[in-house]
Amino acid sequence: MKRIGVLTGGGDCPGLNAVIRAVVKGAVIKRGWEVFGIEDGFDGLLDDQKIRPLTLEDVRGILPRGGTILGTTNRGNPFSFPMEEDGKVTLVDLSDRVVANIKKHRIEALVVIGGEGSLKIALELMGKGISIVGVPKTIDNDLLETDVTFGYNTALETATDALDKLHSTAESHHRVMVMEVMGRYAGWIALESGIAGGADVILIPEIPFDIQYICHAVDARRKRGNRFSIIVVAEGAFPRSGERVVKSGAGKTQAVERLGGIGDYVAREIGTCLDMDTRVTVLGHLQRGGSPSTFDRCLASRFGIKAIELIENGEFGKMVCLKGRAIKAVSIENAIKELKLVDPDGEMVRSAEELGIIFGR
Ligand code: F6P
Repeated sequence: MKRIGVLTGGGDCPGLNAVIRAVVKGAVIKRGWEVFGIEDGFDGLLDDQKIRPLTLEDVRGILPRGGTILGTTNRGNPFSFPMEEDGKVTLVDLSDRVVANIKKHRIEALVVIGGEGSLKIALELMGKGISIVGVPKTIDNDLLETDVTFGYNTALETATDALDKLHSTAESHHRVMVMEVMGRYAGWIALESGIAGGADVILIPEIPFDIQYICHAVDARRKRGNRFSIIVVAEGAFPRSGERVVKSGAGKTQAVERLGGIGDYVAREIGTCLDMDTRVTVLGHLQRGGSPSTFDRCLASRFGIKAIELIENGEFGKMVCLKGRAIKAVSIENAIKELKLVDPDGEMVRSAEELGIIFGR
């Protein structure tokens, strides 16, 4: 009997539970394997108490549930783990403890459900002899080698729904409504929800914007009789002459800086140069929560089963992915080489521009 482990790493997203359920079902029903759930991402591999058997009973009813029953963290990296001593934080390599724990529990292979950061750690652990397969997750949809990550579709639905709601109040009050969405390096959520939600301006990290140009465009709309405007801005977008707006910097206990505030900047600038009433909505973690969409439930389930097939065939170091309508596998190494960004000159941006949407360039 094979014994495998499964963990969820990085920021959560809708569909994680659907993958966990599929992994357990695929392992247990047809193959009779044992599955161990590891709590709180890679941190769980540092602690005996966080590794527990996952049975069919444990995954019953979790398919439509947001979040992850295993817990996750977007801070823990066992190769560079923050340890506090006498009030001082130092980064320590605890990867040997992780490897020892995996061996102690006789876990023969690990399913790592995560984004770029978690898959990088997975690859490093492979270098220490651990057999791993990856499942791509992130609402940002910025992972290479897969057409789409699960979680993205649900986040898009949330953002589009919010835009629909903002439209009616913007129109009633003749306001400029700015909606800030997630998207650290990639503007996929802003771009696709903006097109679907009929935004007038979309600002994404891939296209640094000129705020004067945006003011001019909003003013031109007003002069044409459109007394309101809807602007979607990705948290990682930034003005041509400036930088990304950061809430708090990266540090020893926080791998990357926390973004947030670009929506306020855009609203403030428009308010000043046009003397129009502006309001800002930061959609934030609502995009990461809630029940996964039909698309994400199905994709996540297919990904989970494919991960089990990869383990069965000994195809380690691979990540499951979607190419067209087919579920395939690619090397984790290739998938994390760089991020999948929006092409500023690609079809989607061009189509949006032909629809009259302004990117501020
Ligand atoms: O990686 C997904 C993401 O949604 C980013 O767009 C965002 O910057 C980040 O997560 C925020 O994560 P948290 O607030 O959990 O640290």
